[in-house]
Amino acid sequence: MEVKTINTFIQPNQSATFTQDYNRVALEIIGRNPLKGEVRISGAKNSALAILAGTLLCSQECRLTNVPTLKDVQFMGQVLSALGVKIEQNQDVWDIDPRQLKDAQAPYELVSQLRASFFVIGPILTRLGVAHVPLPGGCAIGSRPVDLHVRGLQAMGADVLIEHGVVNASVKGNKKRLQGANIFLDYPSVGATETIMMAATLAEGETIIQNAAQEPEIVDLANFCNSMGAKIKGAGTNTITIEGVKSLHSTDYAIIPDRIEAGTFLVAGAITHSPITLTAVNHEHLIPVIAKLEEIGVKVARESETSLKVLPGELRGTDIETSPHPGFPTDMQAQFMALLTVSEGNSLITETVFENRLRHVAELKRMGADIKVKGNCAMVRGIYRLSGAPVMATDLRASAALVIAALAADGTTIVQGLQHLDRGYENIEQKLRSLGAKINRIQYQS
Ligand code: UD1
Repeated sequence: MEVKTINTFIQPNQSATFTQDYNRVALEIIGRNPLKGEVRISGAKNSALAILAGTLLCSQECRLTNVPTLKDVQFMGQVLSALGVKIEQNQDVWDIDPRQLKDAQAPYELVSQLRASFFVIGPILTRLGVAHVPLPGGCAIGSRPVDLHVRGLQAMGADVLIEHGVVNASVKGNKKRLQGANIFLDYPSVGATETIMMAATLAEGETIIQNAAQEPEIVDLANFCNSMGAKIKGAGTNTITIEGVKSLHSTDYAIIPDRIEAGTFLVAGAITHSPITLTAVNHEHLIPVIAKLEEIGVKVARESETSLKVLPGELRGTDIETSPHPGFPTDMQAQFMALLTVSEGNSLITETVFENRLRHVAELKRMGADIKVKGNCAMVRGIYRLSGAPVMATDLRASAALVIAALAADGTTIVQGLQHLDRGYENIEQKLRSLGAKINRIQYQS
């Protein structure tokens, strides 16, 4: 890694241990280089996190493949290890032995670093009859409560007491197993659907989740559980039925491709007017993203069952409103905002899923973008070109948006706050460099 002196006027967050290694590291991106070639999309982060939690349901060893190498996934591995699970990793292949799961207490230091690690509560409770998991707390994009997870577990017969920041759940009375229940979710929360679905796989009787989340990662988790002998039907629709079984057996399961990483590369191709090809993708998962790109003027061709090619075109503004799947994904909102800053005309972006997910606006404005925010809406007026600047990533997808903006900007952009980027993008610099981008990770002195 190169050491440089840069003129930085942004102070990286020095409070959390998770960020400490990142205080003097940044990406240096020299914009306006056309991209070309192929990029292979990694396994889905959000599937991997849920499925790793789901391995706790199994009473035998399991193998997962296509597991992405990411900070968040490593954290989830550490949570499992702390609970007594043995893990062997060999690149994207994880051999997991959850037979020694004994500890019902997830460690605060780890759960506080990764919100998704709260998802272990369902599997631990249903397997051991008791679980103690710290509240995950809020994060940069919103307060992110877990009330829907908790209410679902209560409906299945769990006693839940939240004390000193820890959710203590136990199977009520002298019943040994959670009991199947009819659960209507007030909101189709991804995490709550996963928690309830996992808890229900080993419960007694049938559980029906109505107004369930329909994201591809829910289907992936259901397929994984079914591959171990669970009886889950309807995943991918708004009603999921789970017939509880007594135990689950071993499996060898491949995680789906990451639709958000794929979407991010499609936008990178669109903003740089580059005909890049993405391999190892699932088209079906990208329908809302491809539909929006086509409205903006970019075509996406199916090259084969598992590959897509960006066919660049003149960019024009459009309106976007995020919503649960099959609506436009909130995890692609920031990247599309970067694209719309250089698309002709006006665009209105409305964020409905998280209450505080427009913090990248200030950073895009440093690069010359013309954006006004009112409440949860951002009005973007397309400009001719962005200009490189020092910018700070505020969350995971915001960091990807800044990288995308930098690829199309005049001059050099320095992106700091890389702890966010590394949570969710496997080898992003190597992948972009192999496509011809001028991007380097640098160490700097301020
Ligand atoms: C998951 C994804 C995240 C994605 C999000 C929405 C993982 C690890 N993360 O997050 O990348 O952006 O789905 O697609 O899979 N809510 C409640 N009470 C609850 C649970 C959620 O009010 O008990 C609210 C949240 O505050 C938020 C909304 O529901 O406003 C959506 O959250 P949810 O679907 O649960 O997202 P996550 O599972 O946290």
